[in-house]
Parts: sequence; structure tokens; C-alpha cells
Amino acid sequence: MKSSEIRKKFLNFYNKKNHAVLPSASLLPENDASTLFTSSGMQPLVPYLLGEKHPSGRRLCNSQKCFRAEDIDEIGDSRHTTFFEMLGNWSLGDYFKKEQLNWIFEFLTKELGLDPSRLYTTCFRGNEEIEKDKESVEIWQEIFKKEGIEAKVVDSAEKEGLQKGRIFYYGVEENWWSRSGVPSKMPEGEPGGPDSEIFYDTGNDKHKGNLPCHVNCDCGRFIEIANSVFMEFKKTKDGFEKLEQKNVDFGGGLERITLAVQGLDNVFETDLFVNVIKKIEELSGKNYQDNVKAFEVIADHLKAATFIISEGIEPSNLQQGYMVRRLIRRAMRYARLLGIKESLKSLAPVIIKDYQDSYPNLKIDLSIIEKEEEKFNQTLERGIKEFEKISGDISGVQAFNLYQSYGFPIEITQELAQEKGKKVDLKGYQQEFEKHKKVSQASSQSFRGGLADTSEKTTKLHTAAHLMLAGLRKVLGTHVEQKGSNITAERLRFDFSHSKKLTDQEVEKVENFVNQAIKKSLPVEVQEMSLKDAQKMGAVGSFKYGDKVKVYSIKNASCEICGGPHVENTSVLGEFKIIKQESSSAGVRRVKAILKNE
Ligand code: ALA
Repeated sequence: MKSSEIRKKFLNFYNKKNHAVLPSASLLPENDASTLFTSSGMQPLVPYLLGEKHPSGRRLCNSQKCFRAEDIDEIGDSRHTTFFEMLGNWSLGDYFKKEQLNWIFEFLTKELGLDPSRLYTTCFRGNEEIEKDKESVEIWQEIFKKEGIEAKVVDSAEKEGLQKGRIFYYGVEENWWSRSGVPSKMPEGEPGGPDSEIFYDTGNDKHKGNLPCHVNCDCGRFIEIANSVFMEFKKTKDGFEKLEQKNVDFGGGLERITLAVQGLDNVFETDLFVNVIKKIEELSGKNYQDNVKAFEVIADHLKAATFIISEGIEPSNLQQGYMVRRLIRRAMRYARLLGIKESLKSLAPVIIKDYQDSYPNLKIDLSIIEKEEEKFNQTLERGIKEFEKISGDISGVQAFNLYQSYGFPIEITQELAQEKGKKVDLKGYQQEFEKHKKVSQASSQSFRGGLADTSEKTTKLHTAAHLMLAGLRKVLGTHVEQKGSNITAERLRFDFSHSKKLTDQEVEKVENFVNQAIKKSLPVEVQEMSLKDAQKMGAVGSFKYGDKVKVYSIKNASCEICGGPHVENTSVLGEFKIIKQESSSAGVRRVKAILKNE
């Protein structure tokens, strides 16, 4: 069975159980300045998990494009990828544990034909704050019983190993899920909950080490293919409270499920990767099996870069653009180790073809990759020579110099060092980086996903968008919230909650509000503070998380949580005009606006 069939089957299966099939959201989160990339299927759904009504109902499913930068160092173990697709289903206060666990097991074993005796499950052991998830254990026992499989429950697998168990209890590290990880790391207001995972036994027992193997062991025999999160808690100041609704947030990596279905123990051998691996063999004249890490880094990084570039991001020194740069440059260094002389751009069409069925709009301008390669080629050799001149370990200043003068992302320096048995002073590098950032300022700004770039014109329209949101709330009411934005140098596009078409008068009032603020030459001020303080001062912008947020305020006009960038004073904006309005989806209006005579 091919991966595209698995994807289709999943969506059909849940659709038949009355789930609305949503398209994949963008890899670049909208209205969420605190994270650069969408890293799980639930991320675009956070407002709805917290209680907002979703226009498509209470049962949803999709296949979401995800990117996890934090896994970049794991590439090479044949199981991790930075880009992946997450098959997801959600119950927004509808069904709960029993349906979820039965259905996902039915999907894996009946629809995909996985052998139930190869599946193992885990549940939350509980802690001082949250009780042990016995309910899920009981549901699993029943499920396995129906299959005629003995399902012994084991409480201490980390220490004592499998012990012929089938269902395993683990603690918060393994069986608690929130966007920010374990309970203690969650900021106030963040939703999370205990989860129950399904592991597939590849049968490939290569365990070494003192402690015995168990399903969450790193040896690679067991691979997690499904995670059902029972999202019913919200972090408070002193602990947790129950959300008003009990949610299910399910996610399963398509790559890994495909591995299990295709009877493999390596995601790079699935049909989601074989063609690109073959192409790298062709370019290098070398074998994948003899060069696993290099092949996996190149294949993974080019795929991730292709998907991110297809969403309008180009290599740069800023945030998402810098991630694309790092991916391409790291892939290039591994290509060089394999003796590849040609551009890696020829991998992109192979990747695009592999995904054609599910992502018919996936395309990129190949010269973007080539130009980045040309740029790095000018300094890569010289940088390596410079690196080789360093005797002993690499200091922070030296690592920073390799970054600044030769464009070496830190992981390249670290890998070169590792190959030579040297150490890099990472802390020192970060200190240098911060020092430099303070001096050059602007490049450190994070910007929200809705911005096409950070040019002056785009920045102006971004500030205008803040004023417009304030104007809309003033004229139409505080039910107006931002639902999405897309800002280019030419115009801003802005979606907001409001169910009626704006009258000409309302449009005029909003325009006047913005133009008045422009005429008054108001400074745009930025402050960093906790989310709580931001909310206290009435800043709009919802569902941000992280310890600190930035609040941009324009006196008596706008106060909004945002990552920036913005102009310093409203006087530079020219004249604001709404040029179009339409309905975007149920209860959401879309306007387009421009700035004239700036
Ligand atoms: N949101 C859960 C995860 O990412 C399903 O594992």
C-alpha cells in the first residue's frame, strides 16, 4: 500500500465517522508570532480546543504538513525527519477516550492491515496533579481481548523492561502532551493532557546497553506511530483546571505509519523517500547504505526546504528564511562529502512529483535553491580552510566568525568539530550572536507568518493592519478578532470574525480611524512582557504562548501582541484605503487594503 493510499484511507475512515476533512494549514502559522513553523496538526486548532466554535463542527480530521526544527540533529537515525505529515483527528468536546482508542486501533489493523500482535500501547501513570489514566488502560485491555491477545499491564518498563507486557504506564515525559511539553513547562492558559501512544514492533532487535529494552527505548525496535492526546486540561497559575470541553487531539506521522504498513524499519525506504534517495545515488555514484547519515540529511533537508520555499519563503538571515538557508547549506556540506558537484536543485522536481497527488500546487522556482548554493559555494571552501587553521577547540568568537564571515550555520561548525574530535563553545557562540544582534538590531526581529517579507512597504502595511484591526473593533464591536492575514509590499489582506458585509459608512469610519492615527504622527512603541501583563493592559492578539510576548502599542489607537516588525511612527504610512471586501468563510470577512502616497 502506498503512502498516498494510507492518507486517503485515513481521511475517508474519519469522514465516514462524520469528521469534516480540513485542508492542511500553511507551514507558516498565521496569527501566532511565537512559533516559526506549524509543528503539529493541532496548532491551527488551538482556539477551538479552548472552546471557540469551529465552523466545520466538532469532529475534524486532516493531513497536516509539519516542520520540527528541533529534530534537525536526529536526522540520520532512519526514523526522524524535520518535515513530515501528521494524520490528525479531533473531537472538540464531542467523543472521548473510548471511541478514539477503538477507532484508531480499527483503522490501523482493519483498514491498513497492521498485525495487532505487533502493536503495543502506553498510558499516563499520573502524578501529584493529574490522576493515573486507568480508563485508557481498561479500554486497551478490552481491545486486545477482542483480538485474543493477552494484555499485561506494566508499570515500570523504563527500569525493568518489557516484562512480556502489552500496555505500559509512563510518566509526564512520555505520556503527557502540550505544545510546550511537560506540565511544568506549560505557560498559563495552555491546553494539554495525558496521552496514549501506539508503538509498532519492527522486530528488529538491536538493543544494546545496561537497562533492558522497552517500547520507548532509543534502540529503534519499537516506533511510535500514533498519539491520542486527551486534551482536557488548561494550565493555571497554580496548577491545572479542566477545560470546559473534553477534547481529543490525535496525531500520527504518515511517514512512520507508512513504514509499518510497508513492513520496513526505516522511513527513508518508504515510497515517501525512495525516489529522492535514488536520485542522490545517481548524483553521487554512491550507495545509501554506506552513507546513511549524509543521504538522510540531504533527502530530508531538500524536502523540507522545497515545502517551505513553496510557501513563499526564500533563504535569508531572518527567521523562517534562515531555516531554509540552514537546511540548504547543511545539505550542501553533506553533498560535498559524497563528492556531489552538481546543484541539489534537481532533487526538488523528484520531491514535487512524489507529492503531486496530495499537493497539486506544490511548486518552486528552482533557481532559489541554486542561488543559495552559489552564495554558499563562494565561502564554503574558504570557511573550511579557516576552520582547519584553528588549533584546539573552537571558541565562541571563532564559531561566530565562521558564521559571520563564511556563512556557516552553527550546526555545520559543530559537525566539522565533531569529525575532528573538537568541541565548540556553544554558549560563547550564542553570547557573541546576542552581542552582535543588539548592535545590528533589525535582523533579530521575528515576524509573523502572514508577512511575505520584511521590506519597508510590507512593514508599513503591517502597522496599518494593526490600526485597521483597532478601527474595526471600534466601529463594529469587540467581537472582531483577527483570523488571518497576508501582507505583501503591495497590499494587505486581512480576515476577521464578523458575519455581515460592512456598509459603505462602516468602511469609511474604519478608514477615518486609521487615517486620523496616521495624521497624528503617533509613535509605535514596543515592550516585552509576560502574556498575563499583556492581557492586563488590554492587548489584543489571541492564543500566543511562550514566557514573553512583545506588545506593540500606538497611543489611544492600538495595542496588540505581535512579533513585529513595525514602523517607528505612523506619520510614514501615507493614506489608508480599503479596496475590497468579501466573505472568507462562515462568519469571517476578508478585506484588502492599501497605502497611497506614502
Ligand atoms: N498533538 C499531538 C502530537 O503532536 C497529537 O503528538
